[in-house]
Amino acid sequence: MLKVISTSDGSRTIYVPDMDEHYHSTFGAITESKHVFIGSGYKTMQADHLKIFELGFGTGLNALLTLHESLNDKKNIKYVGVEKYPLDKDILIKLNYSQLLPETKASCFDLLHECEWEIPCRITDNFILLKLQKDIRDLSIDMVFDLVYYDAFAPGKQPDMWSYDLLSSVSSLIRPGGVLVTYSAMGQLKRDLRKLGFKVENPAGPPGKRQITRAVKRS
Ligand SMILES: C[S@@+](CC[C@H](N)C(=O)[O-])C[C@H]1O[C@@H](n2cnc3c(N)ncnc32)[C@H](O)[C@@H]1O
Repeated sequence: MLKVISTSDGSRTIYVPDMDEHYHSTFGAITESKHVFIGSGYKTMQADHLKIFELGFGTGLNALLTLHESLNDKKNIKYVGVEKYPLDKDILIKLNYSQLLPETKASCFDLLHECEWEIPCRITDNFILLKLQKDIRDLSIDMVFDLVYYDAFAPGKQPDMWSYDLLSSVSSLIRPGGVLVTYSAMGQLKRDLRKLGFKVENPAGPPGKRQITRAVKRS
């Protein structure tokens, strides 16, 4: 039974008792997502058109923050989120991201979740969302991405989401020069990314985490 809890910055996240795992950092869900995926991912990309892939769509927080950025910078975003276990409405309504991010308007969070699975939805003039309800291991998609948000549960809780084989198949979705960003800075992950042809950087992490990983695919 999932539980919604408050994190240190006031934003909520989900606790999964069976795994003893949270969807976000308990030091701040919005703080973490902004720092990792927006600060070290989205904001480092120069192009006006971006194709973004997310492993683990979950609460839609990363999509919402990306949408928020695109309202200001007017970049054209195609956002594909893969999720094996979509969340029920009774959990989603307990999350308080719309209240804490008023610039995105309450309707944006709702639109992201009302968007039907497997069908592209235009959320704003410059943001298209495609949600795929799939196990990432069964994914076959004919698209190449500029930026990947690798947001699986922690390696200690779901090690198969960090296997070399899975990283390799996600890596094949990234164009040369494209970026993979994740909150983990595990040694094995960094070694695997190097082996897969990435230049690995370790920016400082958000509260509670020393470093994160940003990896650029070599041309
Ligand atoms: C750390 S949570 C992050 C979720 C999301 N990015 C967010 O901000 O709410 C990891 C997500 O990966 C999803 N997941 C777990 N196993 C998966 C699999 N095999 N394929 C696709 N998604 C999976 C979980 O259901 C969960 O939503």
